[in-house]
Amino acid sequence: MVFSKAQTLFTLVAGVATAGGLGVTVPLAPPSTSKPIAGDHVSFSLEQDRWLDWSGSNSRNEFFFNTLDNLKQLFVSARIVRTAQDFNPGLQSAVAQLQFPAATKNVPYPEASSIVVGDGYFATARFLPKNTRVIWGVNLGANNLTSSYLVAQSIAKAFNSPEMKDDRIVLDGMIIGNEPDLFPNNGHRAPGWNVSQYISEWQTFAGNITNALGITSSSTTKFWGGAFAGSGVVCSTGVVYIDHAYSGSFCEGNGALLQDLMTKANIRGNLTRFGPDIAVARDRGLDYVMGETNSFACHGTPGVSNVAGAALWTLDYLLYGAQVGISRIFFHQGIGFKYNLIQPVVLARSPVDGSPLSPPLPPHIQPQYYAAIIAAEAIGSSGQTRILELTGYAFYEGDILVRALFINSLAFFKKDSTRTSVHIDLAFTGAATTPSSATVKCLSILLPDGRPRGSRSLESVILVSFKR
Ligand SMILES: *[C@@H]1O[C@H](CO)[C@@H](O)[C@H](O)[C@H]1NC(C)=O
Ligand SMILES: *[C@@H]1O[C@H](CO)[C@@H](O)[C@H](O)[C@H]1NC(C)=O
Ligand SMILES: *[C@@H]1O[C@H](CO)[C@@H](O)[C@H](O)[C@H]1NC(C)=O
Ligand SMILES: *[C@@H]1O[C@H](CO)[C@@H](O)[C@H](O)[C@H]1NC(C)=O
Repeated sequence: MVFSKAQTLFTLVAGVATAGGLGVTVPLAPPSTSKPIAGDHVSFSLEQDRWLDWSGSNSRNEFFFNTLDNLKQLFVSARIVRTAQDFNPGLQSAVAQLQFPAATKNVPYPEASSIVVGDGYFATARFLPKNTRVIWGVNLGANNLTSSYLVAQSIAKAFNSPEMKDDRIVLDGMIIGNEPDLFPNNGHRAPGWNVSQYISEWQTFAGNITNALGITSSSTTKFWGGAFAGSGVVCSTGVVYIDHAYSGSFCEGNGALLQDLMTKANIRGNLTRFGPDIAVARDRGLDYVMGETNSFACHGTPGVSNVAGAALWTLDYLLYGAQVGISRIFFHQGIGFKYNLIQPVVLARSPVDGSPLSPPLPPHIQPQYYAAIIAAEAIGSSGQTRILELTGYAFYEGDILVRALFINSLAFFKKDSTRTSVHIDLAFTGAATTPSSATVKCLSILLPDGRPRGSRSLESVILVSFKR
């Protein structure tokens, strides 16, 4: 294929001919509106209660290790949320004492109501892939400085171990308190507890933990502030500012909800609503991350969060996130949650409705994992990639256009007999050298038995890599 500037180059999505293509002009050099996108832009936020299931207790969880390692442009960064409820110095081995509420149809894998951990619990971070950056949190809700101090000491002990140092597994961030804006509503603080009280308590904890962790101004470990459930409060409580976000909360779903999730205008709306927070954080010189996010609360919606369309949502959401100035997106994961990218252990009951599974489900990846793989390939390993949203997205390494990606966000259901397609005409603009050829990779969505849907496979994502 030979390209020349400002000329129709090729038809990207074959299929039913549509009258007139969609013209997309790709700048050959990154304009000022392009944004940096990090190799570990896709990160994970792990529900803390069953952390040992993710990491492995006595040896590494091979499945989780491999699924992280596959995203090998790494750094993977993992954020472990829900700060430890209590610490028992007697629990030396990798044991956590957990209590769970009863499972229900809508919440087959509830979060633990009580977590007691010891030193061995934090030490299993040594089972993560090399270079993983980890963010832990301590409890502010319980308002027990001694408990949080003991947790911080235990975390320090783990990350100072020779094994973690050799593998460059680092404690990148410490968070004090999870979703503190909810404290006056969930019983952790009296009604009327306000932001000045929060900051003062945060400072007391931060002072103490700085000491427990031996943090100095040159340490890798920094405090990450915020971690609010809602937007609109930005406090200078760390060097990274965190928000949490879901596109809604639905315990049951349907096709319309899936299409809503994937629709570009909704994806934009759900991210641009954080624009003011991002602007304030950036003005104060803070990095801004989406610290806990996924499709819908309720640990995901059956038939929506766990299907192929969710992979398309994930890809668009994480890439658009970079375009609006979010440095990293931590997709929330828990054992048996419906919106997981990865299910790292055997599940004895259905994540969809809690029914007993015989035989049990072995560890597996879910559709959204494909989005992480595609994003890793699109971002590449240059460490200096920039992204620009067009109709799709263009990727630049340094000053050079290297890749472009297009997503078909129109849901296609089993009941649909024909699928429409979009014809894209690519052209270039700018003074730089035009690519001489390109390779194209597609994500095809197949039926569970491996057959393409309808009469042909359906390319839902197209990644073009340019060659010169
Ligand atoms: C931190 O808190 C613990 C527990 O209350 C206390 O023993 C320790 O002296 C405190 N350290 C600092 C530096 O405040
Ligand atoms: C605070 O935590 C410590 C250490 O776990 C514990 O011994 C103590 O009883 C706790 N205090 C309260 C008031 O719960
Ligand atoms: C927060 O509450 C405290 C204690 O009631 C009060 O002294 C302070 O003025 C309040 N601050 C703000 C900003 O409302
Ligand atoms: C977020 O996305 C959902 C659909 O997933 C949509 O219903 C909602 O309106 C969107 N919110 C905003 C602020 O755009």
